Amino acid sequence: MTPDNRIAVCPGTFDPITHGHLDVISRASAIFDEVIVGVVNLPWRKGSTLFTAEERVKFVRNATKDLPNITVETFSTLLVEFARQRGAMAIVKGLRAISDFEYELEMNQLNRKQAPDIESVYLMASAKYSFLRSSGVKELATFGGEIDELVAPEVAKALKERLSR
Ligand code: PNS
Repeated sequence: MTPDNRIAVCPGTFDPITHGHLDVISRASAIFDEVIVGVVNLPWRKGSTLFTAEERVKFVRNATKDLPNITVETFSTLLVEFARQRGAMAIVKGLRAISDFEYELEMNQLNRKQAPDIESVYLMASAKYSFLRSSGVKELATFGGEIDELVAPEVAKALKERLSR
């Protein structure tokens, strides 16, 4: 990173990417020169994912294709290691409800301990996405709920194919 090129990492499992994720990524892209969306290969806290890393990356790439300063890649290391390898000065995350706060506070302390030079930046979720999470979308899809306004059409189609009972 140079002072002229401020790089941020936007990390997540993105299983799958929702309009809420996209809102945070696009707002981050307006603040930083470059945003690298880091898709966790094998998430530690969630066990197996519904979509493979390749599928999750494809959905994120398609969702962000109109944003010029975004790249998307997977990572299998500590988040701060990934950020450091990419020359990022910041990790950007979205905060939805109070329920996110406790987990993110803990992650913030852990990450800061490992890499005090990399700042974590939190963007408050836009009101219409404040209760949107991938697991909720998967639950809706499983039981035939309406998901078309929550995720991109290709993601909605894939969810319905894979989950609908
Ligand atoms: O809520 P998500 O999308 O599953 O969050 C994933 C991620 C990587 C943002 C979160 O687990 C985190 O902040 N982890 C920091 C600790 C770390 O580096 N873990 C290794 C990768 S899972």
